[in-house]
Amino acid sequence: MRILSGIQPSGQLHIGNYFGMMRPMIASMADNELYAFIVDLHALTSVQEAQRLATGTLEAATDFLALGLDPERCIFWVQSDVPEVTELTWVLSCITPMGLLERCHSYKDKTAKGIAASHGLFAYPVLMAADILLYQAQRVPVGKDQKQHLEVARDIAIKFNHTFGETFVLPEPVIDTDLATIPGLDGQKMSKSYDNTIPIFLEAKELKKRVMAIVTDSTPVEQPKDPDKCNLYNIYKLFAPTERLAEVRDLYLNGGAMYGKIKLELVDILWEYFRKPRERRAELLADPGQVREILRRGGDKARVKAAVTLDLVRQRAGLRY
Ligand code: ADP
Ligand code: TRP
Repeated sequence: MRILSGIQPSGQLHIGNYFGMMRPMIASMADNELYAFIVDLHALTSVQEAQRLATGTLEAATDFLALGLDPERCIFWVQSDVPEVTELTWVLSCITPMGLLERCHSYKDKTAKGIAASHGLFAYPVLMAADILLYQAQRVPVGKDQKQHLEVARDIAIKFNHTFGETFVLPEPVIDTDLATIPGLDGQKMSKSYDNTIPIFLEAKELKKRVMAIVTDSTPVEQPKDPDKCNLYNIYKLFAPTERLAEVRDLYLNGGAMYGKIKLELVDILWEYFRKPRERRAELLADPGQVREILRRGGDKARVKAAVTLDLVRQRAGLRY
């Protein structure tokens, strides 16, 4: 199966990104053809400080590698290193109905959060469709928030195939229903744009601060509480060993769950959980040249694949005379 997914370098990667996208991608490396990339052109819709975007791109790539992505067993690159994607975006734009983009939630959500309404932000799903279709991806692992974007990509592929003849594979999302939306500190979807994240790689002190800031209710300790409605529990359950999780669940249901204690336990579990990647990351950070070289080689491989599809698209659309 050809599997592809991208991640924006718009802030520190967090545990929502890990469970929604990075972990499923890393897990599928073994028996699939994997395409993973850092979508800096997408991040440009919200990050408009050059240094921050450039640093963020290298850091996101470093984090992904530290978490276990093996560049020998996948194609791993930076989106803007393959300019073919912007040409395909234009061609797709010309057949994308306005109404399709007008219905997208993410544009409304992002502008409501204060991101400037720009043409790029509005056309974001077309660039994402180009990302997917350029490599003829069959499966796309993402969190639930990206489901609509995947539907748009499919609709655009169908429209193109219908207009110009069979060209694109129709991609399908891969969304793990248990991990579809990881909640943030405040209970909303964890997101870099909502300042409610638990970044994967934090200093010990910062990690503790974040975890202690998880919002909980004021039910007295001895009273029973519904674990599934508790934000802390929903984060805790992602990391806790099965037996301990059953004990804590019991405390919630029968009274006696102490939020402060569970939070401190979560800090320790998280620290251990990401220990190896943290060590690997420190090594990579000490040698950014190595990461740049991995990305450069990945970009070269991706361009070869991209050129094949783009050539076909140009022929189909009459951009050959
Ligand atoms: P963010 O919302 O933090 O900016 P991105 O839009 O860069 O994250 O998302 C990168 C990937 O991580 C996408 O596949 C997205 O669906 C997934 N993802 C982001 N936040 C979450 C979350 N809270 N739960 C599950 N998956 C998530
Ligand atoms: N829009 C996605 C997000 O915010 C990132 C993305 C860009 C992507 N291009 C992609 C995801 C292609 C999957 C496939 O998370």
